[in-house]
Amino acid sequence: MESKLSLIVPTYNEAANVEALVSRISQSTGGRLLEILFVDDDSPDGTASLAESFSDRYPVRVIVRKEKRGLASAVIDGIKEARAGIVGAINADLQHPPEAIPALLHALDDGADIAIGSRYIPGGSCGDWTLTRRIISRVATVLVHILLPSIRRVKDPMSGFYLFRRQVIENVSLNGTGFKILLEVLLNGIYRQVAEVPYTFNTRRFGRSKLGLRQSFEYLLQIIKYSAQKGEFLTFFKFSLVGASGVFVNMAVLWLLTHYCNVFYMFAAPIAIATASFSNFVLNDRVTFFDRRSSSPKIFFQRLFKFNLVGVIGAGINMSVLYLLTAGLNMHLMLSNLAGIGSATLLRYLLHAFWTWR
Ligand code: GDD
Ligand code: MN
Repeated sequence: MESKLSLIVPTYNEAANVEALVSRISQSTGGRLLEILFVDDDSPDGTASLAESFSDRYPVRVIVRKEKRGLASAVIDGIKEARAGIVGAINADLQHPPEAIPALLHALDDGADIAIGSRYIPGGSCGDWTLTRRIISRVATVLVHILLPSIRRVKDPMSGFYLFRRQVIENVSLNGTGFKILLEVLLNGIYRQVAEVPYTFNTRRFGRSKLGLRQSFEYLLQIIKYSAQKGEFLTFFKFSLVGASGVFVNMAVLWLLTHYCNVFYMFAAPIAIATASFSNFVLNDRVTFFDRRSSSPKIFFQRLFKFNLVGVIGAGINMSVLYLLTAGLNMHLMLSNLAGIGSATLLRYLLHAFWTWR
């Protein structure tokens, strides 16, 4: 049971794909397969009864839900019913090649807790997707990486094709709104190692995709909600506060040097700037990104160097925005500057989060 596989197939109107799917899955998984669990939302095209008809030749079980409640919740219901030590999901439409399952199982046998079929590692691809769909998918992935840094190492966190050990989600409640269950598993599951295995996303031959604008929108809201739950907005807020504190440090140093030490203000200013910048660095290192120092560059000075480089890039962005808005759009100087500061802060935050303290 430990090393056996319960494979969940959420379906809605996939009758044309069922036969090929079942035979290809069982051919490629052989003795490892305990069951193929169809979770069907009472498809009008008879997917459920067709799948059921294969249960004499293949280890097929079918769960029918009387309402259409969506892909993610179908997978969760499947997980609840699954009996094997390894559970996973695959789409019914053969866009996920069942022939890649052995490689996923192999990754688990090699010690991974979660194995993900990935389009975005070498060897994987989106097949013949249109440029538009490629771009949308890439943007969504980058968004996940920005908003949920804890799973940044996963190149294809939105895959619908994955296996994991049952223990990963023991005692974890999955809530199943939206389209993706893997994200929840990655965010809340208990695991040490994630492996990605390349595959090529095939063209759907029969039936049609159910992923529409509405799902994409719900999905975006879901990521934002997760991000808030994980305290990511708090990190950005801390970063902004640290930035503001730098203004005070700068002012204080300038005042001390000019008033008490009689330093000429044009000599005092660079010292004030350097002090503020260093204090910002230390605060970000110890407070804002304290939990990421272990995986970031080990050497303090390396982080410091990157911090300053990003600072210069930020200043460049600040000035470009300032110039474009003031000269190009005739905006009020103070408003343009505010926009410049805002975009520079955001950019610096992203560069720090992805590079300085990655
Ligand atoms: N039970 C149930 N209920 N199943 C559903 C529902 C539903 O409301 N909606 C879709 N499904 C089933 C489909 O029948 C199919 O087997 C699978 O879920 C995926 O649906 P598609 O409509 O084919 O989605 P897609 O191909 O656009 O996107 C899939 O692949 C992507 C790449 O791995 C999804 O799995 C995405 O989450 C994934 O990112
Ligand atoms: Mn599909």
